[in-house]
Amino acid sequence: MSIKELLSHPPVIPLVTLHHIEDARPLAQALIAGGMTSIEITLRTPIALACTTLMREAFPQLTVGVGNVLEQEQLHAAKKAGAHFAASPGFAPELLQLASVLDLPYLPGVMTVSEMMQARYLNVSLLKFFPAEAAGGDNFLRLMQLVFSDLMFVASGGIHAQNIQHYLSLSNVLAVGGSWLAPADLIAVRDWTAISELAASTLARIRLD
Ligand code: 3PG
Repeated sequence: MSIKELLSHPPVIPLVTLHHIEDARPLAQALIAGGMTSIEITLRTPIALACTTLMREAFPQLTVGVGNVLEQEQLHAAKKAGAHFAASPGFAPELLQLASVLDLPYLPGVMTVSEMMQARYLNVSLLKFFPAEAAGGDNFLRLMQLVFSDLMFVASGGIHAQNIQHYLSLSNVLAVGGSWLAPADLIAVRDWTAISELAASTLARIRLD
């Protein structure tokens, strides 16, 4: 399956920041029990790559990506850790080129029309739209449907249960990501049941809408 297919069934990607490696397994289990099939682990903590490898090995059915990739080294490390994909908050052609050499599916971040044009020139058609709400939200992406008929977005940044459907109703949105599905306060108290219910209720909501 292509990364586009993997990230769109269902079209919701929990973005998680983990501080304790022992949380990786129960968190993944909770999200899977709630119906999620993919996860993006932010490279904002020193254990993120170890969590990536652990989830890859323990949950073969889960698509495990790493996010917040800023440096080339991190792309090498993501590949070595077994990540299925990597994502960056912004656009750097150097990272794009390296991801292609490493054969690692990669989502560069964009938030302007010029960055989108640059991405097209470099033959990239799947982009992370970040920070979505601050960068113009679904209204901006709706306009982009007219401008770029060939670009698809995974939107994140300020997306939650109340506005998710505004994005998913757009033809150029492949999926949305967000930390609201695995909030820091629930991870801190290890309330895996609540995280599972959050995932399930989100998926029920998008199926009903
Ligand atoms: C990201 O890396 O895409 C953001 O941290 C997600 O933003 P959110 O916390 O507003 O969901």
